[in-house]
Amino acid sequence: MLTQDHPSTQQVSDMTNKLTIALAPGDGIGPEITRACLHIFKVAGVLDHVEFTEVDMGRKVFNEGDTRGMTDEAIETIEATGILYKGPMGTPIGGGGKSINVTLRKTFGAFANLRHFQTLPGVETVYSRAGVPVDFYVVRENVEDTYGGIEHRLTPDSYCAKRIITTPGCDQINRFAFETAKAFGIDKVTCGHKANIMKMTDGTFLDRFKFVAQDYPQIETEDVIIDALCMNLVLRPDKYKMIVLTNLQGDIVSDLAAGLVGGLGFAPSANIGDQISIFEAVHGTAPDIAGQDLANPTSLLLSGLIMLRHIGMRKTAAIIENSLLYTLESGVHTGDVKGKGQPVGTTDFAQAIADNLGKNPETIEGCTVPAKDELHHTPPVRPSANQIMTTHEQVETTVCGCDIFLQNILSPTELAAKLHRLTQSTPFKLTVISNRGTQVWPTGSPYTEMVNECCVRFELKEGTVIGQGPTVHLLAKVAEKFTVTDFIPIRMYDGVPGFSLAQGQ
Ligand code: NAI
Repeated sequence: MLTQDHPSTQQVSDMTNKLTIALAPGDGIGPEITRACLHIFKVAGVLDHVEFTEVDMGRKVFNEGDTRGMTDEAIETIEATGILYKGPMGTPIGGGGKSINVTLRKTFGAFANLRHFQTLPGVETVYSRAGVPVDFYVVRENVEDTYGGIEHRLTPDSYCAKRIITTPGCDQINRFAFETAKAFGIDKVTCGHKANIMKMTDGTFLDRFKFVAQDYPQIETEDVIIDALCMNLVLRPDKYKMIVLTNLQGDIVSDLAAGLVGGLGFAPSANIGDQISIFEAVHGTAPDIAGQDLANPTSLLLSGLIMLRHIGMRKTAAIIENSLLYTLESGVHTGDVKGKGQPVGTTDFAQAIADNLGKNPETIEGCTVPAKDELHHTPPVRPSANQIMTTHEQVETTVCGCDIFLQNILSPTELAAKLHRLTQSTPFKLTVISNRGTQVWPTGSPYTEMVNECCVRFELKEGTVIGQGPTVHLLAKVAEKFTVTDFIPIRMYDGVPGFSLAQGQ
């Protein structure tokens, strides 16, 4: 099977009522592939049970000066329906407008991105030629990590992006992965990470993977460093069944995985939240082929099939999926696909799938078609306030110093001497100076190239216990003499340092 119904928290509702889904066709090839999918849905009978309400989003809204890229009415409709089916949308480059795709996932709490990558009949890849079957899922965390988009220019030369990883966020995504594996009958989950380098952020992701895994003893687990994972995926993609990843690493691995099965045109994507879920094509707006009836609608169609299963239309989804497989197998494909025979356009491809409804693939096992659809979906219940998620509530937290980032062109020794004089009468002592994360004082190598920004770490002189106030006073003192670019109090959590060492420390 290409896609299966994932765990849903929603309940069964009346089959006689039409369910409303917000629809945003998107930019570039978006409207063409959306039209193609809706045509297939119509012929398959989806529109007898589902009503698509179009909402304003994307380039048109950006061009009207709304930097959110979506109107208030669009937000209201999505919040009311709880489901958005969307085509690709362009992100304005520069100018402050953020990616609408990321904004949507984050605003509506669609924390889990689920993608399925499987060899398709009629789609030739190096793996299909070598007889290596590809069939695995990627679960990517969707709202944390560098996708916070919290970036600053700290000095004329240096820039910084904040990478936020939280325990509740890790627990949510890891539990989603295990629950999905359980629902799909998948018996192994792999955690991809870079905990060897990012010991606190990726280290937490890995720790929480292991913690959540304890609740699923029937599922085998393993963890692998992200670079090795990329190599393994290219060498032995058949080794993997489900991979759970943080946001940016998941983004990169997802596109790598799409390449294994024939490209972005074949990769479906579901962004699942507790209340609101978004189903979208993985690829972008493909401006180079927009408006020419060349685009492949498969990715958006497969995402639509995950959506149909999400609302309980498992029978219809399986029939459409089998028709898609049969169509590809019979050699009908769009121009982006390396396959036999002449390519057809978007419209003809969609028509072939509509004509083939009821047929099953012959060279591979098709989907089992359930006896009936059981439509279920309860629109979101609007919370009265934002929910705050916490994991560690009973941790003893003590401030033990601070890291102050400075614009600096003095040598480490000169800087240390000045800071010593400046902080003599304070409860702090200077312990480390680092530049781009590498220690340059009290010891270091003259070969370490430096930039004009460094981090100076102050720690409490022995035995002194304080709150965060004195660190702020220290900051004020340092700021009188230096340009401060960042400031972070450093803390112990139940006696364990909540800060990393400098490289070489
Ligand atoms: P892209 O995915 O639009 O295009 C990359 C290449 O793949 C192009 O050669 C394109 O013709 C081809 N391609 C993509 N989808 C195809 C399809 N369905 N059928 C046939 N060929 C297809 O990526 P690009 O060029 O980096 O981004 C273009 C715009 O799309 C940007 O503004 C970007 O921000 C946006 N974008 C939106 C996404 C979304 O809405 N989820 C995801 C990725 C990019």
